[in-house]
Amino acid sequence: MPTFTISVIPGDGIGLEVVPAATRCLERVASRHGIGLVFNEHPWGSEHYLATGRMMPTDALDTLAASDAVMLGAVGHPDIPDTETLWGLLIPIRRGFQQYINLRPVRTLPGVRGPLANDAPIDFLIVRENNEGEYSEIGGRLYRGSPDEIASQLAVFTRRGVERVTRFAARLAHARTGVLTSATKSNGIIHTMPFWDEIVTELAADEDVQVDSVLIDALAARMVLKPESLDVVVASNLFGDILSDLGSALTGSIGVAPSANLNPERNFPSLFEPVHGSAPDIAGRGIANPVGQIWSGVMMLEHLGASEAASDLMRAVEEVLSAGLATPDLGGSTTTAEFTDAVLDAI
Ligand code: NAD
Ligand code: IPM
Ligand code: MN
Repeated sequence: MPTFTISVIPGDGIGLEVVPAATRCLERVASRHGIGLVFNEHPWGSEHYLATGRMMPTDALDTLAASDAVMLGAVGHPDIPDTETLWGLLIPIRRGFQQYINLRPVRTLPGVRGPLANDAPIDFLIVRENNEGEYSEIGGRLYRGSPDEIASQLAVFTRRGVERVTRFAARLAHARTGVLTSATKSNGIIHTMPFWDEIVTELAADEDVQVDSVLIDALAARMVLKPESLDVVVASNLFGDILSDLGSALTGSIGVAPSANLNPERNFPSLFEPVHGSAPDIAGRGIANPVGQIWSGVMMLEHLGASEAASDLMRAVEEVLSAGLATPDLGGSTTTAEFTDAVLDAI
């Protein structure tokens, strides 16, 4: 029986509620398909930080490196600065394991209505650069509290970084409609985006796809007005981050959106987590939507090569949504536990 070892980090807030929901579903579907899943759970996150001063132990990456994949809920705590929680756990994993692709499907699920008046189905992929760009470690703050205070941030785009994300996105586009939409901002007084455009144009020609280069502001509007005109969108780290929350809202709720932080070379484990955060405003109430976390688990199964189990789990989620079960973010009154039980029954 093929067996995979999964490191599980529930993290903070609703991560502690939706991760167990997802692992229960994964366990059930895996056993139906003769696959073994061994979950190693790590209690890392903000409670660990409050107890030890660190979000995770110093050898955490070595521990995670031994697994086939990592499943994360979310991190973020109202009493701890996000710079500590994110740079102490999520970002070191994404970078340490060279997960330079953040793949975020934007797809309407059956039974789920988005806010758009014409409720046409939406189905595109955001391929977000996940290791560099606007999220650089170069910058800082000076003269804190004085009238001369300064904050600066250097956006760092490397040829290698832009090439590899573009190549990944272009290959996906090639296998779909052959059109790659690139989120840019080369009309501003910035140096990075003309560089991005040049590389995207070169690589797209190389991969035989057509490039549709769209300014990020116009692209945000187009996502709302004509989302059906999009198929694969390649975007820098910050642009892709913003577009993916917008995409999740268009498809009903941020609670349903999944993501895969991929290391395509597979020299390190990839990380699967929903697009949403720790949602402190609803944490502890048992009403978080587990779909984003479960769907991230579906992406994990696909990545591990268990594609039948992956489609079976997605089918079960879609069946439950089609039957009208919905957590409050989707306008219903189903709890996390009730929704999860229904998915387990449908598997
Ligand atoms: P958020 O995604 O946590 O919440 C935004 C809104 O969406 C909230 O109203 C929340 O209740 C709702 N929501 C989110 N997920 C939901 C779900 N599964 N079901 C129902 N409703 C859901 O974003 P935020 O409030 O901006 O951030 C909260 C904390 O999470 C911050 O500390 C932030 O830095 C962190 N964060 C972490 C990650 C991560 O670990 N990957 C991602 C995003 C935000
Ligand atoms: C996401 C989150 C993170 C990001 C934050 C929490 C650092 O918003 O995964 O989308 O911006 O990458
Ligand atoms: Mn985000």
